[in-house]
Amino acid sequence: MNELVLVLDYGGQYKELIARTVRGMSVYSEIHPGNLPVFEIKRLNPIGIILTGGPNSVYLPDSPKCDPKIFDLGIPILGICYGMQMMCHMLGGEVSTGDIGEYGSVMIKSLNSSALFQGADKPFAALMSHRDAVTRLPEGFCETAYSPSCIAACENATKKLYGVQFHPETKHTAGGREIIQRFLFDVCCAAGDYTLDDYIDTQVEQIRRKVGKNRVLLGLSGGVDSSVCASLLSMAIPEQLTCVFVDHGFMRQNEGDEIESIFSKAKLTFIRVNAEERFLAKLKGVTDPEAKRKIIGEEFIRVFEEESAKLGNIPFLAQGTIYPDIVESGGVQSATIESHNTDESGGVQSATIESHNTGESGGVHGATIKSHHNVGGLPDKLAFTGVVEPLSGLFKDEVRILGKKLGLPPHLVKRQPFPGPGLAIRVMGEVSEEKLELLRAADAILREELDGMRERPDQYFAVLTDTRSVGVKGDDRTYESVIAIRAVTTHDFMTCEYTPIPHKFLSRISSRITSELQSVSRVVYDITSKPPATVEWE
Ligand code: XMP
Repeated sequence: MNELVLVLDYGGQYKELIARTVRGMSVYSEIHPGNLPVFEIKRLNPIGIILTGGPNSVYLPDSPKCDPKIFDLGIPILGICYGMQMMCHMLGGEVSTGDIGEYGSVMIKSLNSSALFQGADKPFAALMSHRDAVTRLPEGFCETAYSPSCIAACENATKKLYGVQFHPETKHTAGGREIIQRFLFDVCCAAGDYTLDDYIDTQVEQIRRKVGKNRVLLGLSGGVDSSVCASLLSMAIPEQLTCVFVDHGFMRQNEGDEIESIFSKAKLTFIRVNAEERFLAKLKGVTDPEAKRKIIGEEFIRVFEEESAKLGNIPFLAQGTIYPDIVESGGVQSATIESHNTDESGGVQSATIESHNTGESGGVHGATIKSHHNVGGLPDKLAFTGVVEPLSGLFKDEVRILGKKLGLPPHLVKRQPFPGPGLAIRVMGEVSEEKLELLRAADAILREELDGMRERPDQYFAVLTDTRSVGVKGDDRTYESVIAIRAVTTHDFMTCEYTPIPHKFLSRISSRITSELQSVSRVVYDITSKPPATVEWE
């Protein structure tokens, strides 16, 4: 059992970054709701608690608060931004709304020998994002750092309560990592006992215990999460695992064959279902993006059900759900494979996967991303005895590290996100075999070129627009297709900036696409961020 640092969430945008930063320092952390009752906290037995930031004002009656008894537990607490304001407010200090607030990089000076600022003698730049500020400290607290307009840090070292008004978790705070490190190791006296090696061993044991001698079915898309999940399951229960890969014909160049070649060699039963024709037939005449997505999702279900029936009744369904999926869908809890297993005794139940499936119109965008990814078009209710989600405790980059440890090829582990409906939503308008072929070729050129960039965008691909434009090739006038280049920089794919690709790459992509592909007359570059655009065009 690893030592645990709890991250209590008050709606701050950096909660996952905080938890991930802590784990990056070999200390296990979990995100829980901000109002987690003290008895639950005691049960979890954390060595430290971090209170996140959040958009509210602490003095409003309905603003989120922690259980007031947490300040008496003797467990070290670090409040960040709203977390510091809430702690000070609840302990008798005063928080007020400033006239202007502080946003962006602000110079901070530490005042005394606080454990958090050991060695940070010089002023340092920190990310601030607040209008409210602590204006009077609670009894027993002292100011430990200041900015031009506010108390930037405070503490009651005797009670091990610490607060910072800025965000040490972001890279925009110089020395921010060190502040968190000092909190973990000097204040919480963490052992730093968390490694992913433990994760593999624990999960292998848990999977075996949970499924016993039963068979497990995994819908394998070839994406990072399902691939790592397959690898982990094949380590735990090689003889009992069946992976079904439905090739809907909208994969990128050679992708279906690559997935087959990797997984058919692995120690698991791999079934590839070539369903290109039936998917294309279903999309005939369909131009609306949402209709396309729905038809593909539904057809996927049909194929999956057919395969499932052919295989007999496999009792367990495995999914590549990862920790942010659970956090974003509101199901913040101890992330173990048991967390979704409501029936430990093995009784038959219908394993609902609705919690991750908010659907396209769900409003919560993070949940939408996840529902595509994890559920992969599976029906809301499936008659499985149980669900196995061995990655549900990991962040995406941890999944990649785990994949590497499990021996998956680097290009698979580093794979960019790829939408469930695949190229069908990157061919604008009606999808046809010819259009898919053209897009595949253009996309392969674009990826070949951008793969060579030193600092690559987080996701990049080509889109076949439904516009044609006039051009000239040789002495002939052409009237052909327009390809768009999409490349984005993001840390969570919920928002993104377009990546300013150097012109030499853009020129080369454009000239290669237009000269190697006769039916492309023009290449354009999408320079829209999200919002207002989305990453995908459809
Ligand atoms: P959007 O277009 O919503 O995309 O800004 C955000 C991220 O999600 C990916 N995406 C999907 N992933 N199934 C998936 O598994 C989907 O249907 C889907 N649609 C978008 C997209 O590639 C980007 O990384």
